[in-house]
Amino acid sequence: MTYELITVRTEADKIGIITLNRPKQLNALNDQLMTELGEALKAFDADPAIGCMILTGSEKAFAAGADIGAMATYSFADVYKGDFITRNWEQIRAVRKPVIAAVSGFALGGGCELAMMCDFIIAADNARFGQPEIKLGIIPGAGGTQRLPRAVGKAKAMDMALTGRTMDAVEAERAGLVSRVVPLDKLMEETLGAALMISEYSQIAVMAAKESVNQAFEGSLNDGLHFERRLFHALFATTDQKEGMDAFVNKRKAVFTHQ
Ligand code: CAA
Repeated sequence: MTYELITVRTEADKIGIITLNRPKQLNALNDQLMTELGEALKAFDADPAIGCMILTGSEKAFAAGADIGAMATYSFADVYKGDFITRNWEQIRAVRKPVIAAVSGFALGGGCELAMMCDFIIAADNARFGQPEIKLGIIPGAGGTQRLPRAVGKAKAMDMALTGRTMDAVEAERAGLVSRVVPLDKLMEETLGAALMISEYSQIAVMAAKESVNQAFEGSLNDGLHFERRLFHALFATTDQKEGMDAFVNKRKAVFTHQ
């Protein structure tokens, strides 16, 4: 398959590397990109030679979130009937081999959620994580309200979801969101080292370890994700969602009327 919004390569014939590639939009995640990402993950997962995958972005942005321009005109009917986000964001959860997120720059909104869907995150020292959806009159819609509290605890998750502030890499490591922080120019070297180590172990043991750790982590995640998705969809019925996204697209400050 040929891809337009991601690039795909292998390293040492054992590691599958997927790079998000919409640099002008800071890797904003649109339908096409997420479909391509799902296809690439599925292909690497099915390839017996591949033992581990790496998902990465550009130096400036892992991903700055779901594509606001595309979402700005969506109605409640559009997002609910189209099962917006679930339909092509869930492939990463079905992948059975490990996926490491190598994050530099912005990992915001859906970008932070995508990184959290990976099995662990290695961050460059310029990485910034956040769930700024509140500024757009919506809430996270791809697991942010469920995975972030599990990773960093309620206090920090509430702080981030309610204020929309970002965390730098040092705070993210201290809080348990990322497993390692490295200088930007060492990000790929460090991540490849981890991926190579993993891909040399028994694939069966690696898959079992991943499945088992996820079991500890994901107890009632499905219920939480379902609940979150319904609220996320409902917010597309509000005037504040239209205002928040229109303000972003037109580069002005949003004025919310709480309707
Ligand atoms: N969607 C669409 N386009 C985006 C985008 C997004 N999420 N983030 C950035 N872009 C675009 C900008 O519109 C801009 O395009 P133009 O050059 O055509 O104007 C380009 O990327 C570069 O962005 P900036 O000029 O804004 O770059 P900056 O360095 O000044 O700021 C930033 C960077 C702080 C990340 C800022 O772009 C920003 O705040 N982006 C939005 C972040 C956000 O709100 N993410 C959440 C989205 S909602 C979501 O993800 C829902 C969910 O849960 C799934």
